[in-house]
Amino acid sequence: MFKLSPAGEEFVKKELTRYETKRSAIIPCLFKVQEENKGWVSPEAVTYLSGLMDLPEAWVNEVLNFYTMFNKEPVGKLHVQVCCNISCCMNGARELTKHLKDTFNVKEGEVSADGNVTITRVECLGSCGTAPMMQVNDNYYENLTHESAVKTIKELM
Ligand code: FES
Repeated sequence: MFKLSPAGEEFVKKELTRYETKRSAIIPCLFKVQEENKGWVSPEAVTYLSGLMDLPEAWVNEVLNFYTMFNKEPVGKLHVQVCCNISCCMNGARELTKHLKDTFNVKEGEVSADGNVTITRVECLGSCGTAPMMQVNDNYYENLTHESAVKTIKELM
């Protein structure tokens, strides 16, 4: 059964007093749950969080399902999100994604056998002038080549 750490619970309690309505605290609290639940928000974590925040589970699920930065399935230690919007695609993002999937032997959206890598395609990450680019966990990497992307991921393992 998922449960936040004492510090995580303290964080949630503090967030609940920060806004005019408790509902406004759902986003930061979901980030805290994701951080403490190995990078994703499970259904049982939603039940736990809604209880802790004293909010309907449906409200937490609405926010969870609207925003793509919350993962609804388990992810690897490194969540590699390759931008596949227009600028990045014109600069080889589709080929880069395939190269990364082949190199790390993982299907899109799944966790590699060693638990290290999940690769997903995402929409514009806001760095079109330095395409192609990717996000790995909370960091961004630009002007990628096949070699530099693989090197970056391997260095982070
Ligand atoms: S299209 Fe890739 S960052 Fe905008």
